[in-house]
Amino acid sequence: MKFTPLTPELYEYLIAHGHNSDPVLAELAKETEALGRIAMMQIAPEQGTLMSMLVRAIGARSAIEIGTFTGYSALCIARGLPPDGKLLCCDVSEEWTAIGRKYWAKAGVAERIELRIAPALETLKTLPANHTIDFAFIDADKVSYRDYYDALLPRLRPNGLILFDNVVWGGQVLDPNSQSEDTQALRALNDLIARDQRVQAVMISVSDGLTIVRKRAPDER
Ligand SMILES: C[S@@+](CC[C@H](N)C(=O)[O-])C[C@H]1O[C@@H](n2cnc3c(N)ncnc32)[C@H](O)[C@@H]1O
Repeated sequence: MKFTPLTPELYEYLIAHGHNSDPVLAELAKETEALGRIAMMQIAPEQGTLMSMLVRAIGARSAIEIGTFTGYSALCIARGLPPDGKLLCCDVSEEWTAIGRKYWAKAGVAERIELRIAPALETLKTLPANHTIDFAFIDADKVSYRDYYDALLPRLRPNGLILFDNVVWGGQVLDPNSQSEDTQALRALNDLIARDQRVQAVMISVSDGLTIVRKRAPDER
């Protein structure tokens, strides 16, 4: 096993050496923190940097986010898009996403972001058949992750990426005493993706576990 356990000190070190600070993101994180315990829903800063890098590295122009909250991950994705790129954000909360809107404007990326307030599956159903995507981030209700995967994979261009957050669910995926609907849904999704020949996937131990799925090209060997 090749694995170095993270101590709090090592985590601090890792953040200090692998994450570019961004004053608008820092301000957004501060306002989110003031919401209290719920702020833990926001992705970790190093995950945000990783996502921005991936969006830029694959030259993504069309992205979708399912689960926007106060807009931190959306801002990271939007930062990786070109000026004429588009990010469709799906969430059910006007209140939380209103915080995000302020910071998207402040960061100068509001033009790239369209926010739809509705259950994400309903929003996805309204998309035209030719709406293809390069990058998707899924971070909402865990019981619907499988449905989001089924809806998004056909729209993903070859070599495009879908990222799933919270795939280890605080370790509950391995805990036989955890039989909640969320845990069972995540276990089933993780098993499905691991077997799915249409994609190449890697589950990495960033934050609460992140699965990165790449759609294989038709002629790929
Ligand atoms: C974990 S938070 C997202 C955190 C966000 N990605 C970030 O980094 O700040 C989950 C979000 O999913 C939203 N959500 C829950 N169920 C949803 C659904 N069925 N459709 C769309 N959004 C949903 C919640 O309102 C909440 O804002």
